[in-house]
Amino acid sequence: MYPNMWKGRFAQATADLVQQYGESISYDWRLYKHDIAGSIAHARAQVKAELLTEDEFLQIESGLRSIEKDIDNGNFHFSIELEDIHMNIEAELTNRIGAAGGKLHTARSRNDQVATDTRLYCREQINIISSHLKDLQKALLDKAEQYAEALIPGYTHLQRGQPVTVGHHLLAYVEMLARDIDRLNDAKKRVNISPLGSGALAGSTINLDRNQIAAELGFDSITTNSMDAISDRDYIMELLFAFALIGTHLSRLSEDLILWCSSEFAFASLSDAHTTGSSLMPQKKNPDVCEITRGKTGRLYGNLVSLLTSAKGLPLTYNRDLQEDKEPLFDSIDTLIIALSVNTEMIADMTINVETCEAAASDPLLLATDLADYLVKNGVPFRSAHELVGKAVALSVQTSTPLDQLDLTQISSHYGADANDVFNLQTALASRTNVGAPSTQNVKDQISRWRNI
Ligand code: ARG
Repeated sequence: MYPNMWKGRFAQATADLVQQYGESISYDWRLYKHDIAGSIAHARAQVKAELLTEDEFLQIESGLRSIEKDIDNGNFHFSIELEDIHMNIEAELTNRIGAAGGKLHTARSRNDQVATDTRLYCREQINIISSHLKDLQKALLDKAEQYAEALIPGYTHLQRGQPVTVGHHLLAYVEMLARDIDRLNDAKKRVNISPLGSGALAGSTINLDRNQIAAELGFDSITTNSMDAISDRDYIMELLFAFALIGTHLSRLSEDLILWCSSEFAFASLSDAHTTGSSLMPQKKNPDVCEITRGKTGRLYGNLVSLLTSAKGLPLTYNRDLQEDKEPLFDSIDTLIIALSVNTEMIADMTINVETCEAAASDPLLLATDLADYLVKNGVPFRSAHELVGKAVALSVQTSTPLDQLDLTQISSHYGADANDVFNLQTALASRTNVGAPSTQNVKDQISRWRNI
């Protein structure tokens, strides 16, 4: 049986229910590599401070490495009596190497230890999620390139507005994901700071070289207030927000695809591998991946709100409530990694029904704004042009005559014989050349810009 870490003060063993209630080992075991890296750096600083001999350090290091290997291989027994990953590893180290193991925790508390481990874990996961975001961007870019010239209506209020291309539409998501990557990189600056050496809350009377420890662990700097350092969970909340926003972006993409795959739109189809059938209706092919992504976004929001709420009433410094930071963090990361992976595959396999998209984009009403622009170019103030075109649209609706079939010169002398040339979709698209507008040339330029980032 492992020693109880605080046995000196207590006459009774911890109640079973308390152990079950308070344990975090069932989920925080995943911090083991970071915990071990942190302990090795901490032990090395103890050698420099002449608290450990070189030999004791080597025993600690090889003991920790053997524990790491056993956990890697699934050969480690985690025990809930030892609450969390920190105590499980430390107890087993002492079990394996004897007396030197009992020196490791000098000038350290689980409070600065857990903050260190979680920061290292977040840093690693930021890199993993960024790389998944890049993969999804790449899948979207490939589709945008394939359908750079495929016309499609652009919508506001889910009403057809103006023509764009599928390429332009998909590039909008590439932009969102780029901001997501940027946000994660920015958050990393606040994650990558070492709290080790802050102790339980007030540092220690034993001075270890905090900068040496930080450098060994790849931190950019060290925290400068011990009370803040051990109770700060801002960096997790910030990440949970960044993750929630990635969820928003994926959810909007999902909603677009759900609409596009409906028979009413019929703009896109997803592969059989990325859709599901109905147990009852034989004809069904459902965009479940999109719906699950839209649904899981709720969890990502919930995880953010959960931690904000857990932290909001806490006095300084550490309170056990803070242990509630890990499950939301782990859940958001797991949720996002699979969501990004499956969406990447699904987009890569998606096909666009170019003819249906183009037929929908060919509604001449989509070029009503272009007609107003034509009048402006002929010297009509925009407000009057808007009204004149509005009248033409009303006439078109009343007489069931498509807008491009009306004799516009009968409506106003401002329309020349060339007015109906406005209704050429290709010219209409090609003339949208402003930076950010959807001309095919612009879309192609944007695709090559993204490819070179
Ligand atoms: N498992 C704990 C957590 O995640 C580690 C810190 C425990 N500190 C303490 N004073 N009980 O928050």
